Formats: sequence, C-alpha cells, structure tokens
Amino acid sequence: MKNNLLKKYTIVGILTLLLVSMMAACSSAPKKETAEKKAQRPIMVQGPMPIEAEHFAERLKNVKEEKSGDFVFYIGTLDDYPVIIAKTGKGMENTAAATAIAIEKYNPIAIINQGTSGGHDPDLNVFDIVLGKRTTNLGSLKTADKAENEGIDPTIWKPMDLMASEGSAGEDPNAEKPRFYEGDKELLAAAHAVKDTYTKGKVVDGTIGSADVWNNEVDRIKWFHKKYDTSVEEMEGAAAAQIAKAYDVPFLGIRVLSNNKVNGGKYNPNTATANQGYVYEVVKQYITTVNK
Ligand code: 5AD
Repeated sequence: MKNNLLKKYTIVGILTLLLVSMMAACSSAPKKETAEKKAQRPIMVQGPMPIEAEHFAERLKNVKEEKSGDFVFYIGTLDDYPVIIAKTGKGMENTAAATAIAIEKYNPIAIINQGTSGGHDPDLNVFDIVLGKRTTNLGSLKTADKAENEGIDPTIWKPMDLMASEGSAGEDPNAEKPRFYEGDKELLAAAHAVKDTYTKGKVVDGTIGSADVWNNEVDRIKWFHKKYDTSVEEMEGAAAAQIAKAYDVPFLGIRVLSNNKVNGGKYNPNTATANQGYVYEVVKQYITTVNK
C-alpha cells in the first residue's frame, strides 16, 4: 500500500517535471528564433530597369542571384548585413508582383523603391532627388459622367481611392480622393542623415506620383502638381508602397529626376547611377540603426 502510494507520487512528480520543462522550452524557443530572425531580415532595394538596379548589385558582397518569373533578386551583403537588390522590370504590375513575391520569400525588414523620374515641380532639376514623404497612384481616376457625344474631359476627372473600402469604388463618394502612402519615418531619417553625401543636386522631401503613363503634356503635369502636390512622376513607387503596406513592411520611395518637362530638363540616363550611389549611403546608414 505504502509502496504503491510512493510509486504514484514519483510518477506524478516526474510528469510535473516533464510538463514544466516542456513549457519552459516552448516559451523560450520562439523568443530566441524571433530575435535571430529579426537580426537577419534583409533590406530590399528595388530598381525597375537594369541601369537602375545593377550598379547597386555590383557593390554588394557575396552575391547570389535568384529568379522568380522575370524578376531578378541579387542577394548579398553590405557591411555584413543582408541586402537584396530586386530588378523588378518597369511598371505597376511588375512592381506589385515582385514586391509581394519578395516579401513572401525573403521577409524584408524594409523596402526602398528607387530609380528615375520626371519632374512635376519647376524648382526641381535633372539630378535632384526626391524622398517620398508620400507616394500616390496617379492612374486611379474616375471620369465624369457623360453621355454619348458629350466628349471627354480629363481636367474634371476625380482621384479614386481603391483602398477606401471593400465596396464599389465607382459608387462610393468617400473614394473620391487620392490615397497617399506615407514614407517610413526611420528610412526617411536615414536618408536625411546622409543628404550631404550627394553632391550632384539637391535632396528634398516630396510627393511621388506613379502610373503606367508617361505624361508629356505640360498642362496635365501641372494639373497633377496642383491637385496631388506631386514633385515627380514615375511608374512603380505607389505599387510597391501599396503592397508593402498590405504586409506592414516599412517603405520609402527615392527618385532622381532624369527629366523635367516643366522646366526643359533633358533626359539624362546617368541619373540612374547617381541615385543608386545615394541610396547605397542611405542603406548603410539604415543598417547602423537596425543593428542598434
Ligand atoms: N514619366 C514616367 N516614368 C518615368 N520614368 C522616368 N521618367 C519618367 C516620366 N517622366 C521611369 C519610370 C519607368 C521608366 C519608363 O522610367 O519609373 O520605370
């Protein structure tokens, strides 16, 4: 009888010990894993065209190349920290897809979308750089209500916010405004901290407008500048910003002016390399904050 009781207590004791140690293992393991994972999450820099991505990729160490569809990812290190350069291809669709795939595959800690752009602000010149305090989609528009033979009039088109609700954007008066994606504060701070390293033009905060459209009508450009306060236009930023926001990944657009129709600034492709040189400094600076 005594023996049996002793046995019973010993078994209960062993089971309790097992349970306690299992619980301890469970609660400490994920913590360690998250800390390790966080430290290793790469910074992703996107560039649409070869001239907008390959210069930066060449400056990475230990580079290995991976492809997904048409998208090329140069996976390497900068100052011993993982950095991935994504060559996304031009336009909103390529960029949105490349961003989603990269987030799912590589779990980046932050995304910088960079490259060339066309000026909307007459005070900005070719080689100046715009930090996207805000990024917006210039192709999300609702036209006026006109019957047959009443013509078309883009000057009275309204902005349309596709993210306003899950209901019909065409019927929703709350959707008749632009959606602005805010640039991440820490990425902006890193960009501000290294402004002086860029000597080919000024670096200013501004609004980046995106659409699969190259606007060459000065009055249309002025219309966007007035309505959306755009500094520049390009074809990718808002697509990347929208997807980054969907996954809650910090995002910043950084665009150099390669042309400016408003003040006669002629297209110069060398601006693409200049921008990557500056973004390289931004990434280096951001790494120092991530490592803290
Ligand atoms: N309008 C639209 N896109 C421009 N780009 C450079 N300048 C302009 C501009 N004025 C960029 C786009 C795209 C490619 C055509 O060049 O982002 O990747």
